[in-house]
Parts: sequence; C-alpha cells; structure tokens
Amino acid sequence: MTATTQAPAPENPLVEGLERLPVHPTSLAIFGATGDLANRKLLPAIYNLAHDGALPERFELIGISRAEMTDAEFREMAIQAVRKFSRRPPDDDVLQRLFENARYVAGTFDQDTLYPGLATALDGFDKEAGQRLNRCFYLSTAPSFFPVIVGKLGQQGLDHHEGAEVRVIIEKPFGTTLEEAQELNREVLSVFDEQQVFRIDHYLGKETVQNIMAFRFANGMFEPLWNRNFIDNVQITAAEDIGIGTRAGYYDSAGAMRDLIQNHMLQLLCHVAMEPPVSFSADEVRNEKVKVLHAIERPSADDVANIAVRAQYTAGTSGGDRVKGYTEEEGVPADSHTETYAAVRLEVDNWRWAGVPFYLRTGKRLARKVTEIAITLKPVPHLGFTQDGSVGVRPNQLVLTLQPNEGVSLQLAAKIPGTRMRITPVNMEFLYGTTFLSQSPEAYERLILDAMRGDATLFTRNDEVEAQWRIIDPIIKAWADSAEGVAEYPAGSMGPAEADRLLVGGDAWRSI
Ligand code: BG6
Repeated sequence: MTATTQAPAPENPLVEGLERLPVHPTSLAIFGATGDLANRKLLPAIYNLAHDGALPERFELIGISRAEMTDAEFREMAIQAVRKFSRRPPDDDVLQRLFENARYVAGTFDQDTLYPGLATALDGFDKEAGQRLNRCFYLSTAPSFFPVIVGKLGQQGLDHHEGAEVRVIIEKPFGTTLEEAQELNREVLSVFDEQQVFRIDHYLGKETVQNIMAFRFANGMFEPLWNRNFIDNVQITAAEDIGIGTRAGYYDSAGAMRDLIQNHMLQLLCHVAMEPPVSFSADEVRNEKVKVLHAIERPSADDVANIAVRAQYTAGTSGGDRVKGYTEEEGVPADSHTETYAAVRLEVDNWRWAGVPFYLRTGKRLARKVTEIAITLKPVPHLGFTQDGSVGVRPNQLVLTLQPNEGVSLQLAAKIPGTRMRITPVNMEFLYGTTFLSQSPEAYERLILDAMRGDATLFTRNDEVEAQWRIIDPIIKAWADSAEGVAEYPAGSMGPAEADRLLVGGDAWRSI
C-alpha cells in the first residue's frame, strides 16, 4: 500500500484512538505470516491501524513462510484473515489498498537462499518508494527459529540499512529457562543492538495495563496509601475458561507457569509495585520494573512447596457443556504432568513492600475469564460500632479489572439505611465501557505501531526478561524434581483446594 486512508474523526471526543504521529515509511516483514498469530492478530491489527490512518504514509508488507504461495494468494489470505478476525468490520477500500502491493517469500527459515530473496523484495520496495524505508522484521514463528532467523538476517547484512532504521520484533516465549533466555539474548544481541530489539509481551499493549500507570501516577490520592503500611496483600488473577484448544504441542511443554506467570503476570506485578519513574521514557520505566524484579527473592528449592502450587484440570463442566480433562485433550500425553493452573506467593523485599504478600494465580478451564488485580487494604485499627454494626465491615479493596468489564472498583463500607447502625460493603465503580463508549485498540495494534516508531516502552528489555526467569526458573526446576504429583481441579471450578495453602494471615482467594 502506498498511502493510508485518512480515518474519520473519532466519534467520541474522549477517545483518541491511536495517535497519528508521523511514522517513518516502513517495510514490515513477517516471518510465520501464514500462522495462527499472524492470521488472528497481526494482519487484523495492521488493518485496524490502516483504518485509523495510523500506518506510515508508505507501508509495505512481506509475508514469509514455508507454504508455497504466490503474492496474489498471500494477499487473498491476508484479506480473509482480516475479514474473519478484525475487531471491526473491514472497509473494502482500505483493505484492498492495504494489501495490494504485499509480497510473499516462500521458504524454510534455516534455508540460506530465503534471505537473498527477502533482501531483493525489500530493496524493490525502496526503489519503488525512491527512498530507504525502515525495516521491521517480525518473528512470529516457533521459538526455535528465533536465533536461526536473527543469525541469517545478520549474515545477509539485513541487520542494518544505511540511512534508515532496522528493528526486530520477537514473539514470546523468550526462552523456556533462564539459561535459554540468556543464550537467546546473547545470540540476538550479537547481531542487533538492544535498541533495535522489541520483545513482545502482549499484555503491555493492553489499554487496561497501561491504565495501571495512569491510575497510580496521575492521581494523588493513592500514593500515600500505596505501601506496606496500608496495603495488606495484592492478588493478581488471570483466569481463563477456555482449555488449550489445538495448542497441545506448545502448551504441554510450557505449562501455566511459563505461559502466563513468567511474563504477563510478573509484568502486572511490576506495574503495581514499581516506583514512579522520573519520566515515561522506555528506559526509565523499564529501569523501575527491573528493580521490582530484583527485589523478589529467588526461591530456593526448599521454599517452592510453600510458595507455589500447580494443578491440572480434569473433566468437568464449562459454559454448560461437559468438557474433557487435560490429559484427554488431543495431542496431550495421557501421563502428562504439565500444570494448567499455577499459583505463587511472592514478596517484593524493598522499603515500600516488605512483608506484603503478592499472590499470583492463573489457570485454564476455570469458572470464567477474568484478569484482575485486587489490592486489599489493612483493616481499620479500631471499630467503635456495636457488635452488630461491625459485622459487615471488610477491609477496603481496590480492584483493577483488566478484562472483561474493564474498569476500576473501590470497595468501601457504608451504612445500610435504617435506624440501626449496620454496615455493608459497597462499590464505587469506573467502567471503561460506559465512560468511553468505544472499543479500545487491540494490544497488537499499539505494539506494532510502537515498534515501527521505535518506542520500546511497552516491550521487555533483555535484563527484564532474564530477571523474570530468575524468579520462575527455580520453581519449574523444583517441580520437575519433585516426587509430589500435580494436583487436580475439575474444569469449570475455581481451581484446586491446594492453592489455599499459599494464603497467609487469614487472606482468601477472591472468587472467580
Ligand atoms: C498468551 C498465552 O500469551 O496469552 C495463552 O499463550 C493465553 O495461553 C493468552 O490464553 C491470554 O491472553 P489474553 O489477552 O486473552 O488475556
């Protein structure tokens, strides 16, 4: 596509959509362009950027994959992917123009001959444009190809482009152990500079995750309370009602701890616990997050049984339907010990948070989908009401709901109208849906745009990803060495009873 369509004015003055800051003309090359992620997320995200007029004035797309396909077939595949998965019905005109110049390069990623073909296609785009376009390489492939592709890009000289920028966007998972992540960082950074590398954690692109920072750092009222003196515990939940679908191949070797806790949930913890950065530049924000991760003690093998629980779903009922247990899912070995549920209790050992438990839990096939952060304050020091009056008093709770029903709710105590002093918890609520009356952009829209702009704030830095593994690795290793089997929970439930053993000081899991 050589020009983007100007977007209509936003319908709601409170919603700006993605900013239309100028972005340098760019060629985006997607490795794994025929895969699931590209079809479901990346191509629709690119379309929605085009719809909003947020793409650079000149934007070129190259798909790279193993399947034999002509350019025309790739364009048609991309159009169908957008029709099927775009968050809003596509405008045919924008859609046709977006992909009309798209190219496709077929080959396996370890094949030397692939890369000269790619270079020729990229040079061709530069010639047509009469200028050097920036280049973004998006690695949406099986992780084993990340080092291979990066190495070959380097050998072909595609890691730099005189007078223009070259960036590489790397999908998750970034390693499956600390050693692997370190090795991958070494390989990637032997070809690219850290400033060129954009490691994806799609949670960082979610509006509601970015709102945690707005909420904390643009409101004066929370900061005085935001510490161990007032906060009793923090509970972060990422519950899903879905099972593993067709992803057994990946999921069975990953498990819930690697899939959700190592990346997305530790990032959420960092957003809650970080100090206010001096500015919102990529490095200032990431410096603060890394400090939080460093303040979490690396669990010893002996600690693991006290701070972490794993479990697997058995057959049950989900959404009114009978569903299979994990080991009966297609592609899962019948003797698999992979956890589909993981919970962990961590402490951030610094001046602000010492002694406050951070509970993290995630699972597939739980009762419903909900991602939330619940911050429970300490109880008031004294209740002067009669015993009856005190019965409904609960510690204040602030709940940031990331999905669904995105919003913030503050639980307070209020008097029930009547002659007696009786107290009950009530909620003060802000809901995105009713306040902004508009659909938020998908995480991938924001992330692809930021990578093209060169803004790495919402991407994980090399030291951050290693610090995350530093915490999670010992847990996974202890589980692998443990004689204790994996606990069980029925599909559609709130998770295993064993998770209760992580709770301290009378804390309770919130209901899912
Ligand atoms: C992905 C995991 O990173 O995040 C999936 O691999 C999980 O297993 C997904 O379902 C959850 O993302 P979201 O945006 O639906 O919360």
